[in-house]
Parts: sequence; structure tokens; C-alpha cells
Amino acid sequence: MNIANIADHLEHTGYIVLDNALSAQLLTKLFNRCHNTDTVRFQTAHIGRGNDKKQINSIRGDVISWLEDSNTTDQLYLSWMEELRTGLNAALYLGLFDYESHYAIYDAGAGYAKHSDVLAGKKNRILSTVLYLNEDWQSLDGGELVLFDPEGVAIIATVQPTFGKMIIFLSDSFPHEVLLAHQTRRSIAGWFRVSGS
Ligand code: OGA
Ligand code: MN
Repeated sequence: MNIANIADHLEHTGYIVLDNALSAQLLTKLFNRCHNTDTVRFQTAHIGRGNDKKQINSIRGDVISWLEDSNTTDQLYLSWMEELRTGLNAALYLGLFDYESHYAIYDAGAGYAKHSDVLAGKKNRILSTVLYLNEDWQSLDGGELVLFDPEGVAIIATVQPTFGKMIIFLSDSFPHEVLLAHQTRRSIAGWFRVSGS
């Protein structure tokens, strides 16, 4: 992992797309953890927090499962992200305090309407990350992540959710949308946060 390169992109363009950040072996393990035959782990995703929590399928159609410190596969991913957290703090003085992340599964026909990852009244998300776990993903399968400029107007990037790709972006700078997937779409979404609200 070239943290200096990641830091450089975050500083100058606000985002970076990495194609082979993790080993094939770890990607396979993560993929095996991302299946909703396990309905106890995977639950419908909600918008907002606490009393504002809503479940609106037309806005957000994924089911999610938070990573667990007690799982050995999740640990491998989380320790990789911990290395990234400390490296980015050293390079950019971001003061990143922790990292939260969940597996996400979008069934065919699901997407996530344009939104910001910085929740109203809770501004502690600084960097968003998404790792994609879709083998043999084709253009026709849809499910692209579209990043917009801060005003939410101009398209900055369109990212196909192909196996092993990771995007990292400044949470507050890029409203974004997940276009409708036409196949089951698997990923791990996560956020580096500063402490407090
Ligand atoms: C999210 C999100 C993007 C993606 O979970 O907040 O925007 O490409 N995910 O899955
Ligand atoms: Mn998002």
C-alpha cells in the first residue's frame, strides 16, 4: 500500500481509485463474508440515525452487516484500514480517530439515490471508502458509483464496482449516487471519523 500516493491524491483531487489494494486471498475471504443467505447478519439499511432513522427502499435498497472485531476475516481488513488511518494522519494531519464499516449487498434492481455521507447533525465522517467485491462485473450490470462536485451538479467520476477496486474520497466534498444494479452487487463501505460530533 502506497500511503504517500493516496495522501497526495486526497490532498489534490479529493479522491483516489485503487485497483489492487488488497491481496486476492483477502478479497476472496471478504467476498465469502458478503452473502445474505445469512439473514441474521444482514439487515435492511436505514437512512439517518436515531429518531430520524427511516427505511425507504426507493432511496436506498441495500442490506448491510457491520464488520465485527471478533471475526478473523474482518480483523484482517480492519487492520489494513488501521494502517491506512495512521498513515494518513501522519501525512495529512487529519486527526482520524476511528473507522466504521459494513458489508453491503444490493440485489438486482437496487441502488442508492444521490446523498452525502455527512449526516445532518453528525459531522464526524471525514473520509469515505468503498471496496467492491464483484467478480466478472460487466458494464451492462450497472451499479456504478457516480461522484458529483460539492454542489451536486457536475459528474466528477463514474466508477464500476469491479472486484478488488477501492475508492477513497473526502466525505464532505462529494455527493454521490449508486446507479441501479442489474446483478447482485457486493461491497464494503466504510468511514474514517474524527471523535466527537
Ligand atoms: C454508501 C455509499 C457507495 C457504493 O454506502 O453510503 O454511498 O458505491 N456506497 O456502494
Ligand atoms: Mn454514501
